[in-house]
Amino acid sequence: MGLFSRDIKTLDDLFVHQLRDIYYAEKQIVQALPEMIEKASDAGLKQGFETHLGETKNHVKRLEQVFKMHGVEAKGVDCPAIDGIIEEADDVAGEVDDNAVLDAALIAAAQAVEHYEMTRYGTLIAWAKQLGRPDCASVLQQNLDEEKAADAKLTTLAERNVNRKAA
Ligand SMILES: [Fe+2]
Ligand SMILES: [Fe+2]
Repeated sequence: MGLFSRDIKTLDDLFVHQLRDIYYAEKQIVQALPEMIEKASDAGLKQGFETHLGETKNHVKRLEQVFKMHGVEAKGVDCPAIDGIIEEADDVAGEVDDNAVLDAALIAAAQAVEHYEMTRYGTLIAWAKQLGRPDCASVLQQNLDEEKAADAKLTTLAERNVNRKAA
C-alpha cells in the first residue's frame, strides 16, 4: 500500500498507516543495532548503542500499546526510507578501514536513523492530538523524547571524542 494509495481516505487512516511505517522501522532498527554495537570501538559509543537497543525494544512495545488503544491490529508496512538509511550505513561501514573513522561513520548513520524517527513521531503526535487522542500522543511522546535524547548523546560523543580520534 503506497502512501497515497486510495486505501487511505481519512486522517485517521493516514495516522494508522504511519504508525505501521514506524512500527516496521523500529523493528528493523532492533535488527540493525547489534551489528553497530559490534562494530563500534569507542566504549561510550558501544554503551550508547546498547542503551538505545533496550530503548528501541521498548519503542516497539509502546507502539503495540498505541495500536491497541486505537483498536487496530499491530502490523508493519514496508518502509523503504528506513531500509535505505540502514543499507547506506552498512555500505559505508563496509568501506571504512580505520576503527576511529568507523566510529564517526556509525554515529553519522545512527543520527540519520534518529532524525528519521523524530520526524515520524513529530507528525504522529500532531495527528493524534488533531484526532482527539491525546492519550496516544503522550505514549508516542515518550518515544520521541528518547529519540531526541539518543540523538543529543550521539552529538556529544562525536564532538567530545570520536571526531577528534578520527581526524
Ligand atoms: Fe525508536
Ligand atoms: Fe532511535
